[in-house]
Amino acid sequence: MLLLSLVMTQALYSEPLRPQFHFTAEKGWLNDPNGLVYHEGEYHLFFQHNPHGTQWGNMTWGHAVSPDLVHWKQLPNAIEPDELGTIYSGSAIVDPRDDSGLGADLIAFYTAAGGKNEASKGKPFTQCLAFSKDKGRTWTKLGKPIIPHIVHENRDPKVVWDPDSKQWVMALYLDGEEFAFFTSKNLRDWTEQQRFSMPGVAECPDLFSIPVQGTKERKWVFTGANGRYWVGSFDGKLFRPESSPRQVEFGAHNYAVQTYDNAPEGRRIQIGWMNGGSFEGMPFNQQMTFPCELTLRKASDGLRLYRYPVKEIEKLWGAEQALSSERTKATDLVDISLDFAARETRTKLKVNQHEVVYDPITHVVTALGRSAPLAPEKGRIKLRVLVDRMSVELFGNEGRISMSTCSSPVAEPSISVETPEPKTMRAVFRPLASAWKS
Ligand code: FRU
Repeated sequence: MLLLSLVMTQALYSEPLRPQFHFTAEKGWLNDPNGLVYHEGEYHLFFQHNPHGTQWGNMTWGHAVSPDLVHWKQLPNAIEPDELGTIYSGSAIVDPRDDSGLGADLIAFYTAAGGKNEASKGKPFTQCLAFSKDKGRTWTKLGKPIIPHIVHENRDPKVVWDPDSKQWVMALYLDGEEFAFFTSKNLRDWTEQQRFSMPGVAECPDLFSIPVQGTKERKWVFTGANGRYWVGSFDGKLFRPESSPRQVEFGAHNYAVQTYDNAPEGRRIQIGWMNGGSFEGMPFNQQMTFPCELTLRKASDGLRLYRYPVKEIEKLWGAEQALSSERTKATDLVDISLDFAARETRTKLKVNQHEVVYDPITHVVTALGRSAPLAPEKGRIKLRVLVDRMSVELFGNEGRISMSTCSSPVAEPSISVETPEPKTMRAVFRPLASAWKS
């Protein structure tokens, strides 16, 4: 028995379809990232989890921690279903002044999805609070909702501190394309301030303040589950969009995005659920995107969010190798960088079974069945591609656009690049180590 369980534990994380530097649950289903919060040296990643199967159901908050956003250790499940419902998505914060009076270091906000388990039959969806006094190792539920049912399956509370109005703000998804904001001084009593519609988005709101790069100015950004965002202002009561809706993500698989609360050095780090892929025969199902840093930059067409892999990926880097038009044999885990002049002819990168094509006439990059606009900056285009066994993530011009896509492994990984300007192109790649084994 002991021997068998030893053999089984060793096999975990080495399975043929196990992503090697993207977070997956040890076993069972995973969807949205929840409760992203940094506290005392640890990045917490809670997640929508089915501990009892590889399909969606029995929603529970799974839990993992990382010192560096690259190496993750899964801990016991944090918040389990009860008589108010199963545990849907939400957020977590550090309560440094004990505003809640609960004497907790971490506080989580989640939706009790009433009616989704036997014990909560006939109950509605409500917003609830749980707290931890031991760095997230154990959680106590408040026991009653902090926001009663408003409409249909209202859900996904995201809480953030507003230093200007000195209060906590909660963004909540209501129904259709409708959201609401609430404010609170003590994290337990909430007052509704605003209800609004955001065209083209639903579920998992996020709201954060972020500096305009290179200036002293800050802006508020609102995002929906699909990453669609608005740049605007927030006066402690109302969010006022100052931009049209924008999108940094053009890939097929990046959903339920959420950013970290309390990340060091004011960094704004985002993780999404890579919603797709076939993990047939695996003890787990689904994966997260690689964590990306968001920056707000003044571009020629206004303020834009840029989304780029966190620099900590360097911990997995092997030696840099040059790329050419010859097929270069690669490992199944690579980090590719291209930097080239955008002249008349197309540049084509082949990665395993995929083609990434940049068209300098239309200024469009096409990859993995999708395309994205990408104008040259100072006449040049930069492409960065992260390849894991089950995904390809492409970044254009250091995060101006990203394309996140599920993929599947090939027997003989290889990379090659075709360019009209081989002399002025920089084309390199680095093999990556497995985050589970390094
Ligand atoms: C988004 C979502 C959330 C919900 C959760 C349930 O993927 O539908 O709105 O809280 O998943 O698992």
